[in-house]
Amino acid sequence: TEAERAQPGEILMASPRGFCAGVDRAIEIVERALRKFGAPIYVRHEIVHNTYVVNDLKQKGAIFIEDLAEVPPGATLVFSAHGVPKAVEHEAAVRGFQVFDATCPLVSKVHVEVAKLAREGYEFLMIGHKGHPEVEGTMGQLSDGIFLVEDAADVAHAPVTRPDKLAVVTQTTLSVDDAADILAAVKARFPLVREPKKQDICYATQNRQDAVKVLAPKVDVVIVVGSPTSSNSNRLRELAARLGTPAYMVDSATDLQPEWLDGRPRVGLTAGASAPDVLVQAVIARLKALGSVSVRSLPGVEETIEFPLPKGLGDKSMAEA
Ligand code: F3S
Repeated sequence: TEAERAQPGEILMASPRGFCAGVDRAIEIVERALRKFGAPIYVRHEIVHNTYVVNDLKQKGAIFIEDLAEVPPGATLVFSAHGVPKAVEHEAAVRGFQVFDATCPLVSKVHVEVAKLAREGYEFLMIGHKGHPEVEGTMGQLSDGIFLVEDAADVAHAPVTRPDKLAVVTQTTLSVDDAADILAAVKARFPLVREPKKQDICYATQNRQDAVKVLAPKVDVVIVVGSPTSSNSNRLRELAARLGTPAYMVDSATDLQPEWLDGRPRVGLTAGASAPDVLVQAVIARLKALGSVSVRSLPGVEETIEFPLPKGLGDKSMAEA
């Protein structure tokens, strides 16, 4: 009803929003490695897909690389939250780097499931976005027998040879609704397909999308704080737009265009799982400078999940150096 909508001039914030437990842990791993071993610390790929986070860590002495050939002998190397193919893990071991794996435990769980079912003779369909490092990491757990499907149309072309021994896995940060549609197409062609016990889309992705579904109908425009490379942030913007509310993504407060707010006095705000709260606060400050008068956070699911740090970086004495 109209009464549930935001007031004109009000900024309504989705809950939950922003950092998930996997992002928090990944950044903490780089910070602690820097404190314990000193700069430089090499990081394979952006630790998480956020410009501010990456620049902040660069300033503290992290060096981001894509190819292990760029890492000198004896270096300390961190794998990003998205995970790595087996070949990369192997190369790092052969070259003798000190490795800390910041792969989100919810991504590692998918890797473990793929390895286990592959030993049982399964082939796989992976639902995900081509070129995303998580997809490369998960598909790279096997040398063959895992086929990418990006949409329902791809299902028809997947070169599956054993439809009776086929499992499906997904990227953790997909649109929940799109993934369900693609899975329906998979089941239509492969009725015997084995699904994950619990879906691979993670709690943080699910919760942030659920929160946008609550937020979008209450406001005139939705702003998503997130970097262009962030899968889950893009999905939040897309979802709000699909619900009929104009939606924009900003990498920082300066990206915000005043004309987005023309005739749209009720502003909804959320942030992807890799976007830090300092950016959200800066966007709020800018919205206020442009005319917003108050901020309210919607009620939402409380997230209490935390992941332990890897051995060698988890000691309590390092908590604050
Ligand atoms: Fe992990 Fe999900 Fe965050 S997979 S890194 S908890 S978005």
